[in-house]
Amino acid sequence: MASIDIESVRKSYGSFPVLHGVDLEIKDGEFIVLVGPSGCGKSTLLRMIAGLEEVTGGEIRISGNRVNDLAPKDRDIAMVFQSYALYPHMSVADNMSYSLRLRKTAKEKIASAVGSAAKKLGLDPLLERRPKALSGGQRQRVAMGRAIVRQPKAFLFDEPLSNLDARLREQMRAEIKKLHADLKATSIYVTHDQIEAMTLADRIVAMHGGIVQQVGTPLELYDTPANLFVAGFIGSPGMNFLEGRYVVGGGAGAAGEGAGIRLSDGTVVPVAPRAGLAPDAAATLGIRPEHVVIAENGMLEAGVDLVEPTGFGIILHLSLHGLPFKIFTLDRDALSAGPTVRVDFPQKHLHVFDEAGNRAD
Ligand SMILES: Nc1ncnc2c1ncn2[C@@H]1O[C@H](COP(=O)(O)OP(=O)(O)O)[C@@H](O)[C@H]1O
Ligand SMILES: [Mg+2]
Repeated sequence: MASIDIESVRKSYGSFPVLHGVDLEIKDGEFIVLVGPSGCGKSTLLRMIAGLEEVTGGEIRISGNRVNDLAPKDRDIAMVFQSYALYPHMSVADNMSYSLRLRKTAKEKIASAVGSAAKKLGLDPLLERRPKALSGGQRQRVAMGRAIVRQPKAFLFDEPLSNLDARLREQMRAEIKKLHADLKATSIYVTHDQIEAMTLADRIVAMHGGIVQQVGTPLELYDTPANLFVAGFIGSPGMNFLEGRYVVGGGAGAAGEGAGIRLSDGTVVPVAPRAGLAPDAAATLGIRPEHVVIAENGMLEAGVDLVEPTGFGIILHLSLHGLPFKIFTLDRDALSAGPTVRVDFPQKHLHVFDEAGNRAD
């Protein structure tokens, strides 16, 4: 097991910068998920930790030792890819034992390592099969088994479930989580899927444009997103945003002495005072679809564009001041919502962002 420290790490391909200085301290045994849209630099960072990409600037340390110039094989790290990268001509057992055989590990030791990994992954009955005789999920398990038998200091996963169908992804996600609870190995997991990030991570690292936007537990990112990017990226359906101006005192209307955000139609939505905002500063109000309340005498009126039953709940697609706005509710009465609904925004669920898009508290 190992801690992994990433300090001011930068990466450029030629003159094209891809990572702009990443700082991250990963504790021994932690499960870290790097999440962000395609192209934000997740794989690049992972591959630098593995030693598959050169580091343009900064330092990477594994268990306190600088590894910038260490060959991948000397880093004692195992990587699991989206493409399972199994040897087609080898059996499952031989695929799993390949790295140990290369290292001339004793036969009994190999057998016991493969046996125990196969048991953990439910691969016992498949050990003699070739990869082509396995399903996608089974192949992904073999790729994980191959990583486990090496007992590496850390596991790196690059979108390992992206080739699987939704149901299998859900199942493998739970298995990976159980496996981590069992092995307690330091793990870094890359995905563009925010649900995978939320469900698997001890801590999430949200990335955008080669810059770390926020690091925290899943619920920290969900409940107190640091900026508009994280607020919009984490959660589905995504957070609603309304632009306005921050007002205090008399201008806050219904809020009386309090504060509020004045929307384009003049409505003032009361919010708790935000020390970081100047009166009349441009601000964005955020509220998650599940926090919007439908109420007969609600503060704002919205047009109903579309009613989407998901079975579990209902998504109402609305237009509010001409902009798209969503509500998620478990109340089936919403299925018969009229052409308009009135809505309220409970104060404790409101997020406020400043003109630069950063959270204002
Ligand atoms: N070998 C390369 N040469 C030039 N540009 C690259 C190379 N690999 C990745 N990039 C660029 O670096 C950026 C980040 O890529 P990547 O780390 O693969 O993103 P992600 O894994 O988050 O989707 C992208 O803009 C991509 O086009
Ligand atoms: Mg990638």
